[in-house]
Amino acid sequence: MKISIIGTGYVGLVTGACFAELGHDVICIDNDASKIQALKKLQVPFYEPGLEEMVRRHVRKGRLSFSGQIAHGVRKSDVIFIAIGTPPKENGEADLTGIENVVRTIAKSMRSYRLIVEKSTVPVDTGCRVRQTIEICKAKHVPFDVASNPEFLREGQAIHDFLHPDRIVIGVESAKAEKILRQLYAGIRAPLIVTDIKSAELIKHASNSFLALKISYINAVARVCEAAGADVERVAEGMGMDGRIGRAFLDAGIGFGGFCLPKDLEAFVRISQKLGYDFGLLKEAKRINESQKELFVRKIENSLWNIKDKTIAVAGLAFKPDTDDMRFAPSVDIIAMLQQLGARIRAYDPQATGKARGLLKDAKFCRDIYEAARGSDCLIIVTDWDEIKKMDLKRIKKLLKQPIIIDGRNVFEPSMLKAMGFSYVSIGRSQL
Ligand code: UDX
Repeated sequence: MKISIIGTGYVGLVTGACFAELGHDVICIDNDASKIQALKKLQVPFYEPGLEEMVRRHVRKGRLSFSGQIAHGVRKSDVIFIAIGTPPKENGEADLTGIENVVRTIAKSMRSYRLIVEKSTVPVDTGCRVRQTIEICKAKHVPFDVASNPEFLREGQAIHDFLHPDRIVIGVESAKAEKILRQLYAGIRAPLIVTDIKSAELIKHASNSFLALKISYINAVARVCEAAGADVERVAEGMGMDGRIGRAFLDAGIGFGGFCLPKDLEAFVRISQKLGYDFGLLKEAKRINESQKELFVRKIENSLWNIKDKTIAVAGLAFKPDTDDMRFAPSVDIIAMLQQLGARIRAYDPQATGKARGLLKDAKFCRDIYEAARGSDCLIIVTDWDEIKKMDLKRIKKLLKQPIIIDGRNVFEPSMLKAMGFSYVSIGRSQL
């Protein structure tokens, strides 16, 4: 099939490359001319394992191309996906100005039937707005359908998640739209849930908010574990074996970050509020998440006695491993709080240093974890990259001024670190 994807951000580009992998002809469109220029030179503007290679392969085969013109994509395609950003406004609501503009341009360029699919995460009822806007702007007698097809891609594993999803959700209003979307995804073996558009829109916000809730729940349990002298890792293991609960997303730590969970949680609270429901449960999940960062800083302060004039080695900056994404990364707030208290920062991240430079003022960026540890008063673990989990602890111990590790991701066994002579503090486990 012939597809256009409007928006070559994270979701758009992964979706475009993966549809090409499934054998479709894809045009990826963006209004950022420099991005399109770079993509034409086969440069992917962010780090996602396997993506650059996939993009190169399909551009060479002629299945994937890039354009700055929505009209060009609409002319050439049967299906048009909207995958542009819906950044949060000051009040936490999603800003849909970009979507509206794109929809107007699509409508004006349509000459025959087109299926317009929302891929971006949007509030429930956006589908109706899209339909109304197209009705108003399109030429008379041009038939069209609107559909919702939310994505559930995790950064760092986005290609795998696209090609091997737990489920595919499509929200449609017509049998024709359903048939087209079924055909598009025919190459993927996964349950396909067909709903109305509003339910599909809600599935996305309800899923991400539930994941956020799960993380905040285990972080709250971690508080109780610490106070009681229990171990949150064992508690999570025991809970997770119950098939109704599941072990995933029960890792206690410094809380969730990234461009999806915090934003979608906030947006869902706002959507519910507008619809007349006060979603207090989700507000509390947000509060717990914020407090995890403060708790971590207090743990660092406790370990160092005074933070002022101390040097702190920071292991990991990205909001999670296998990505260079720094958006809403807990590291940014944690480092700001530490600097406020007078600390000097020596930071290391395997991929995110480039993006972190603009965000973290006055931090020294190091070549590796060992350079960060050299001469520092303690090491804090912020992102659980594999490389960080595998660090040579004996070497780290020699390099640090004092053998103190404060671990925000529960990477190590406390007894092992204690046996090596470290003072080791983690989350929700008795401090040895
Ligand atoms: C998320 C959803 O998983 C995905 O389905 C959606 O489409 C986009 O948002 P992503 O933002 O890539 O994906 O990150 P995810 O892997 O979900 O992690 C989010 C944050 O939660 C990270 O900061 C991570 O460190 C944290 N986290 C995750 C925990 O603190 N504990 C956990 O148990 C799991």
